[in-house]
Amino acid sequence: MRVSMIGAGYVGLVSSACFADFGHHVTCIDKDARRIAALNNGELPIYEPGLADMVAADLRQGRLEFTADAARVGEADVVFLAVGTPSRRGDGHADLSHIFAAVREIAPLLSATAIVVTKSTVPVGTGDEIARMLREERPDAEIAVASNPEFMREGAAVYDFKHPDRILIGSDDLRARTILAEIYRPLYLNAAPMLYVSRRTAELIKYAANAFLAAKISLINEIADLCECVGADVQDVARGIGLDNRIGGKFLHPGPGFGGSCLPKDALALIKTAHEHGTRLRIVETIAAVNEERKRAMARKVVAALDGSVRGKTVAVLGLAFKPNTDDTRDSPAIPLIKELQDLGADVRAYDPAGMEQAKSQLPEVTYCGGAYAAAEGAEALVIATEWEPFRALDLARLKSVMARPVIVDLRNIYRVEEMCRAGFRYVAVGRAGVA
Ligand code: UGA
Repeated sequence: MRVSMIGAGYVGLVSSACFADFGHHVTCIDKDARRIAALNNGELPIYEPGLADMVAADLRQGRLEFTADAARVGEADVVFLAVGTPSRRGDGHADLSHIFAAVREIAPLLSATAIVVTKSTVPVGTGDEIARMLREERPDAEIAVASNPEFMREGAAVYDFKHPDRILIGSDDLRARTILAEIYRPLYLNAAPMLYVSRRTAELIKYAANAFLAAKISLINEIADLCECVGADVQDVARGIGLDNRIGGKFLHPGPGFGGSCLPKDALALIKTAHEHGTRLRIVETIAAVNEERKRAMARKVVAALDGSVRGKTVAVLGLAFKPNTDDTRDSPAIPLIKELQDLGADVRAYDPAGMEQAKSQLPEVTYCGGAYAAAEGAEALVIATEWEPFRALDLARLKSVMARPVIVDLRNIYRVEEMCRAGFRYVAVGRAGVA
């Protein structure tokens, strides 16, 4: 099968490499000629475990090509759209300008029987609009438009792509369904369930899934706050409820609020979609508001741990990416946390194994360090903002010896309270009794 992928961003790159790995011939097309040149040299614009090796092998074996030449879509049986749909400035709705620009550009170049598939997260009805544009531009052709949302997580994207919980194919067109089933056949043989639904339903399933995940996180975060008030332990609460099969234990880790390029923006776009259709999603509206407040509120935990003020004090922050195993700092809870600490007069030193370059433009006043212990040097408090593996087993004696005061604010609950107690730290966690 010949596949074109429009967009060499996160979803486009991972999907291209994985489809090529399945044995399809993939041409990944991006307007950004510098990005394409770098990719052809084996340099990836993102950090994602396993991706670089896969891209290198696919390039070597000639199954994957990167090009800025949009005309190459003409060779493809299936063209995936994987361009960004960021939040539109001002109203938070999904900005579809990149999607529509891509459709306008490829419309005259597509083969007359191409299948155009949106992989980008797009609001309900976007596929209808794409189909309308293609009919208008290519009345001669029989181009089908389908929706095939992606559920991969950053940091685990390659694994998720190859071990999906389900493959969602949104189209009523039999030809599109058959060809997409063929593309995913290697996974189908692994018994990945394939769900055929209408295009609009597929578009909505993507948003509903992210809203549900956001709801689980926000709920456990609020329960964590209550645990702190009533003296209960949120880790045990999460386990106690998660063992109920109807609830499930995943996405019940309390923390500084959900971030990243998907859950926050998709919640806003879903709220907008409901408004446009004259209705409201009050639960999703509340989740979005609660999460925004939470990110800002995390600085107060640090202030409390430092006896009411951070003014003139040095605070070390471990973790800038919104989650481990990625360099992505978009909407990361660490960003508003650090800004708030700086507004309150703190000097912030920080370390992240992958996210420091991305953070620099958002946080120019931070002292970036070469490691966790270097960041902790002279700090009166150390905040764990992202649960990277190397932060889970820090040498507590060494940490204590380099810090000005032994205070740890663990926003990801990665340490045991007794361990911190033994090591002589003041330890503040989320939804658990700490060590005073
Ligand atoms: C999310 C979804 O999990 C994917 O299924 C989806 O494909 C993707 O969005 C997307 O729409 O493209 P991602 O944003 O990569 O994936 O990351 P998550 O693992 O969902 O984490 C999102 C945020 O929630 C992170 O800040 C994370 O720290 C936080 N989180 C997650 C918690 O605070 N607690 C949890 O229990 C889980």
